[in-house]
Amino acid sequence: MPDTQKKFYLTTPIYYVNARPHIGHAYTTIAADVIARRQRLLLGTENVWFLTGTDEHGQKIQRSAEAAGIPPQRFTDEVSEQFRSLWQRMGITYNDYIRTTEPRHTQGVQKLFSELYSRGHIYLDTYTGQYSVGEEMFVDGPPGTIGPDGKPTETVTEENFYFRLSAYQTQLIDLIESGEFCIEPEARRNEVLSFLRGDVTRALLDQKEAELINSTLDEDFGSDLANAVVPTIAHSAKGTPYVPGALKDLSISRSSFDWGIPVPEPAASTTQKKHVVYVWLDALTNYMTAIGYGSDDPAQQAQFEKFWPADIHLVGKEIIRFHCVYWPAFLLAAGLPLPKKVQAHGWLLFEESKMSKSRGNIVRTETILDAFGSLLIPTPVSSRPKAQSAAAEGSASPEPPLLPTKHEQDLFGSDVLRYFLLREIPFGQDGSFSFDALYDRYNADLTNGYGNLVSRTLAMIEKYFDGIIPHHRDWDTQPVFLKKSTEFDGGEFRVPNTQLAADAFATKTFYELAFQKNRFSLPSNSSLHEAALAGVTDSVMFLVARTDAYIAENAPWKLAKDPSQREALGDVLYNAAESIRTITALFYPILPYSTAKVWEQLGLGDIEAAAKSDQLHDLAWGGLKPGTKLGPLGPIFPRADKGLIQIMTDAEQNPVPPTPSKFVDEKTTHTTPAPSDPTHPGAAPRTSILPHHDPASQVGASSAPVPDLARPPAPHTEAPASGIFAGSAASGTQQIAIDDFIKIDLRVAKVLVAERIPKADKLLRLEVDLGYEKRQILSGIAQWYAPEDLIGRRIIIVANLAPRKMRGLESHGMLLAASHGEDGKPILATFAESEEIELGSRLK
Ligand code: MSP
Repeated sequence: MPDTQKKFYLTTPIYYVNARPHIGHAYTTIAADVIARRQRLLLGTENVWFLTGTDEHGQKIQRSAEAAGIPPQRFTDEVSEQFRSLWQRMGITYNDYIRTTEPRHTQGVQKLFSELYSRGHIYLDTYTGQYSVGEEMFVDGPPGTIGPDGKPTETVTEENFYFRLSAYQTQLIDLIESGEFCIEPEARRNEVLSFLRGDVTRALLDQKEAELINSTLDEDFGSDLANAVVPTIAHSAKGTPYVPGALKDLSISRSSFDWGIPVPEPAASTTQKKHVVYVWLDALTNYMTAIGYGSDDPAQQAQFEKFWPADIHLVGKEIIRFHCVYWPAFLLAAGLPLPKKVQAHGWLLFEESKMSKSRGNIVRTETILDAFGSLLIPTPVSSRPKAQSAAAEGSASPEPPLLPTKHEQDLFGSDVLRYFLLREIPFGQDGSFSFDALYDRYNADLTNGYGNLVSRTLAMIEKYFDGIIPHHRDWDTQPVFLKKSTEFDGGEFRVPNTQLAADAFATKTFYELAFQKNRFSLPSNSSLHEAALAGVTDSVMFLVARTDAYIAENAPWKLAKDPSQREALGDVLYNAAESIRTITALFYPILPYSTAKVWEQLGLGDIEAAAKSDQLHDLAWGGLKPGTKLGPLGPIFPRADKGLIQIMTDAEQNPVPPTPSKFVDEKTTHTTPAPSDPTHPGAAPRTSILPHHDPASQVGASSAPVPDLARPPAPHTEAPASGIFAGSAASGTQQIAIDDFIKIDLRVAKVLVAERIPKADKLLRLEVDLGYEKRQILSGIAQWYAPEDLIGRRIIIVANLAPRKMRGLESHGMLLAASHGEDGKPILATFAESEEIELGSRLK
């Protein structure tokens, strides 16, 4: 049962709206979504709160809006919406989306400022210093200093409100050293501590030097001259040295621009100038204002009581100081509890450097969603996960297979990216992104690994047991000893005496520990016994590999040949299916769309319902009931073609067409009509990387649920009389790019039924088997082919042609044929050794 006593509150950074989202942003959001989904299984949906949003104030945003020549509010509205709609495309299950320009946020920020002011933690002063606009922070150094964003700082003299940050040096060091305020990974914790401690080595040297000078002067000239200042070094509660005063007070207002939250009364009246709250104090407060801090509504106040403090702030490593020094100091000063943990992750690098808009080396998430989404092939209505096929339920005809909707394609592409980012990049460290690696990982782990395991196991159950999960013989239990360590309690557990059950138990234990401990990155001295998010995908893939090995060792196809081995065959296939159930439940937070499909194929119904009733959490071996009828089968991870790498590369390199939006790039002049930078907020949102938007000719270009018989007919070269694909090879034919070709889904099918249609002497009605589904095609070849000549033949069909009606009958697909002679006699394309070719194989 979910633990209703507990709650879990998780946040992402709120993203700046001066650039369109890229996969760097998606990385944090995906990791948060995985954690939130897992926590919902453990604690129940009502006890988990996952917050994301956008950071919309500050000089940087104001300048971007000015450069675009539009009011900042409209500018931020547009870009914030791009983030939000991307998260929706990707199926991100955030509970709330906060924007710092919302009134609820303004109210909460002003409340916090007033609280700090009334408690005496804020004072007014004038300061001249170097300001980095890109990073929105003051930095030490002379004029012309290069800021953390790589650009020269600006000299700013301003009267500002200051926060007495220096007062929190010792307390922060103690809280971090004791672990009460947790920062992970360890490298980031050390970075924060050394910032807080100041330059201790230098202070020690200075101390030695001053002592030496003083003792020399003392000896030679008497104690009057021995007055060199000896720097003080203090010690934390844990006894580590630090330099008192190393932490300086922080400017928390700006008065040279006005795009921000006004400093509230009574502080505002103490100065002539209009001040706005410093953008980082403004932004960090979102974590509280979104759950009701500052609200007058009792329901909102109760929400704040329930969820604050946050359990995890998930952040990229570059904003660790804001979250681990400034933010806890503000909270301590206001008398509020600190977040339990700040978890940092590393950067996604592209071509060796951090992916960022200013470097121009970003990859857009949409590119990946579009490319991998296009791999989805039509699935029968009944084999779609319910959650994703609501629209299809109202369909008048349940029979015809459906083209995937655009949303399904997006969710599938999102699964691929989720898996890749978590599997490829050890959480907490930097990691390189490349399309090659994405493609390799997809084919190796998802298609050949998990996908292949599912399809061959279920196909054998279909074949040998008519699609019913077989009975297994009783098993004995055997003890499993977990090594006692700081991670595991150790002790004895009893699991069924098959190796596979023991492997599943080990995987499950490791995985659960990682989430239970909220440990997402491994400490530097980690051992294999320690669990972390960094390793959960590996651990589940380990079980995939063990299950593959189990099948290979037990060779069910051999057992099937010997009737006396029927029970043994049942045992093997039961165990394999049970292992797949465990794998699928564990993969659910990472691959929510694909696991929903596998769950249905296992005959277990809707995975979301299973999630709500603890079935994805309580995974004792044997939970799969013998006698369960498998759902309709079909491929889960269709094989990707190498051409996909090129398609994605091209999509990133080719500028998008100009857009009527008035946005211009910050770096360009006001007269530039439209950006060609695809990352720019003004660039056209690219919903598809495929150049022509012909909904009928392109798999899943439609955002409408299918089947959609009202779709415009495909503009293909179908000969009206024959109804077959009469591809012209004539010279002068327009050339197409590989991505045009890839749109055509050519597949091997077998003719099961062929018959004439009354009163339609040119048409034959065929029923063909694509391996993953059967469908009806009408073809105008009756003049040339007798029905009996076609039955059993393996032919090639255009599988992703939108269904259409002919003579009141639906035809879904076209046969591929060469047009021969003057009368254009169609010669059906076929293979010489056609028996060898698997049905449904794609032609490339
Ligand atoms: N607005 C601030 C955060 C305020 S939180 C109170 C900000 N915004 S940002 O748009 O620059 O987003 C930064 C965050 O986006 C990073 O901390 C990280 O979570 C994510 N990433 C942006 N680019 C990234 C990479 N190249 N790699 C990994 N994560 C990246 O800072």
